[in-house]
Amino acid sequence: MIICIGAGPGDIGYLPRRSAELLANADVVAGFNAVIDVVRPLIPATAEIVQMGYRDQVAQLDIVAAMHHAGKRCVVVFMGDIHFSGFQYLERVERACGHPVETMPGITSAQVLASRAKVCFDETSFITFHRRGDLTPFKRHLVHVLQDQRNAIVIPCPWDEARSFMPWHIAAYLLENGIDPELKTEVWENLTRNEAEWHGTLAECAEHRCSDMSIMLIRCKTPMASQIEPPPGVSA
Ligand SMILES: C[S@@+](CC[C@H](N)C(=O)[O-])C[C@H]1O[C@@H](n2cnc3c(N)ncnc32)[C@H](O)[C@@H]1O
Repeated sequence: MIICIGAGPGDIGYLPRRSAELLANADVVAGFNAVIDVVRPLIPATAEIVQMGYRDQVAQLDIVAAMHHAGKRCVVVFMGDIHFSGFQYLERVERACGHPVETMPGITSAQVLASRAKVCFDETSFITFHRRGDLTPFKRHLVHVLQDQRNAIVIPCPWDEARSFMPWHIAAYLLENGIDPELKTEVWENLTRNEAEWHGTLAECAEHRCSDMSIMLIRCKTPMASQIEPPPGVSA
């Protein structure tokens, strides 16, 4: 058995009970170092822990896949939710195993941000730049989302100088592409742990620096009007 689970945004209290049960019954628990640290209190002393980083993830996942094929119960732990900015890692897990694997969702940092900032998913698009490959279609999509009067929740890319696309780069890119410099923008860091929040305009965001553990909200200029029934005594 092998299953991929989301560890949630950082505080162990956000991990679903079903995922805690999977960890409690695991023979092997694998994941990136920082994510293993989140779930460590739930890993039984008998379980083998396979930790990895960006450079050795493929080799370490091969070890996990071999243990899975040998009949061990393996749990691979992802940051937040697997389904937002986690699919490339899932692809690596499945490639190592040679077959599709089951997933168990977790709470994503995007959900916590939506909760803190009170934004409605229906009126918001989710975009990540924290992925390998060509970012151009995702950059274009972000411009379209904002032109279309939707909010955007954005995971930046913190990698090396050449590739990094952090909130200040994202803001500068959007300004170059004609997006309104006055759009309200927020950057939230370390959600559910040592949280920090920044609020300003898109233009101000181009000057704001933040850590790698940041997620960004760009609000549309005019929030959608309420579409629920009028209050009692008010005609439509
Ligand atoms: C590879 S992505 C994984 C996102 C994850 N799958 C999720 O659902 O939140 C990692 C990036 O997500 C963002 N992130 C994850 N957890 C966060 C948190 N607790 N607070 C702020 N940003 C977070 C950071 O930008 C981090 O570099």
